[in-house]
Amino acid sequence: MAAFRVGFIGTGKDPSKPGRTGYAMAYQHGSGYRALGGKCEMVACADLVQERADAFAAHFGLARTYTDYHEMLAKEHLDIVSICTWPHLHARMVVDCAEAGVPAVHCEKPMARTWGDSRRMAEVCAQAGAKLTFNHQRRFGKPFRKAKGLLDAGEIGKLVKIESGMGNLYDYGSHNFDMCGYFNDQAPCEWVIAQIDYHRESVVFGAHNENSAVALWRYENGVYGYQATGLGDADTRNIMGAYNRLVGTGGVIEIEPAGEGMPMLRVKRQGDAGWQGINCEGEHCHGPGYNERAVANVVHGLEDGTTAELCAENALQATEIIFACWESSRRRGLIELPLDIEDNPLEEMVASGALLG
Ligand SMILES: NC(=O)c1ccc[n+]([C@@H]2O[C@H](COP(=O)([O-])OP(=O)(O)OC[C@H]3O[C@@H](n4cnc5c(N)ncnc54)[C@H](O)[C@@H]3O)[C@@H](O)[C@H]2O)c1
Repeated sequence: MAAFRVGFIGTGKDPSKPGRTGYAMAYQHGSGYRALGGKCEMVACADLVQERADAFAAHFGLARTYTDYHEMLAKEHLDIVSICTWPHLHARMVVDCAEAGVPAVHCEKPMARTWGDSRRMAEVCAQAGAKLTFNHQRRFGKPFRKAKGLLDAGEIGKLVKIESGMGNLYDYGSHNFDMCGYFNDQAPCEWVIAQIDYHRESVVFGAHNENSAVALWRYENGVYGYQATGLGDADTRNIMGAYNRLVGTGGVIEIEPAGEGMPMLRVKRQGDAGWQGINCEGEHCHGPGYNERAVANVVHGLEDGTTAELCAENALQATEIIFACWESSRRRGLIELPLDIEDNPLEEMVASGALLG
């Protein structure tokens, strides 16, 4: 079988200097395609800045570069496009790829700027028969996989609550909520109640993120989610005291508990005298190798026609909770899902002056 022709939109500038204004995630995607050997041929990239496209093309040996991604889509007959631009650009670019006939689009998280755009990009791809995936690569990390294995083996009884406490609800939270969906077998969410604080401007990759938040939500299968962001101190790392905590009827699992010398993953079953550390073979919450596994998941889905774990449906579940949290803050109440808004409530509240004093 001929190799899948891969193209990139948004290459980034310098992968050796990652930070809040640019991680050059395209290089991570590129490494993923390269790791699949002959299955994928990286042929072209587009970036508004010619030098960035040139550097990326030189790094991965691409034949052509573009500054206009529409031209790339028209000329290159791509099988897969990786979109690695900032969130406000995702929806338009995904829709353009689907309309140009690209069969698979792998887009960076968070999905889009608004809840309406998030739904629409998924709908357009479904109608066009294009496979749309989002790079929630942490699902493929050993701390998370092994935690899910313990859960599925019944080591902590029946799952009651999933807690997480890192970063924010949107930029970082996209991973957190996706992980909750993974732990809870993608059960749909029923309702969300949340409050946020936004007293100083906080913009990440061009998008507002709250300073801190507390959120509680319930899935249709009765499991609760609980997340607190932006709070805590150096000792607790975050106010939850762990990256993730899975609470069951018969025990608790913690991923990256706070404190010196803690294991990356630990479990305490009812009746156990103490915690049992689980060996994650050197992997932590961010890697290594997770982006490569995510890209492999996308390519395998295209190869064998199956739905990739990183599919838009799973991303939509996570994204709906994010926007519902902000909507709960805007309406000052509990939000029943499905979420009946189009916009970005945080953006709207910032613009109207409802939040910044
Ligand atoms: N999965 C993760 O763990 C993870 C980590 C960091 C960032 N991200 C996400 O990745 C996305 C990209 O972030 P980044 O840090 O890689 O960005 P970046 O700033 O490093 O690169 C984005 C590139 O897009 C280019 N660009 C902008 N508009 C364009 C257009 N119209 N056509 C072509 N190119 C255009 C810019 O010139 C820039 O080079 C964001 O959504 C961010 O949230 C994900």
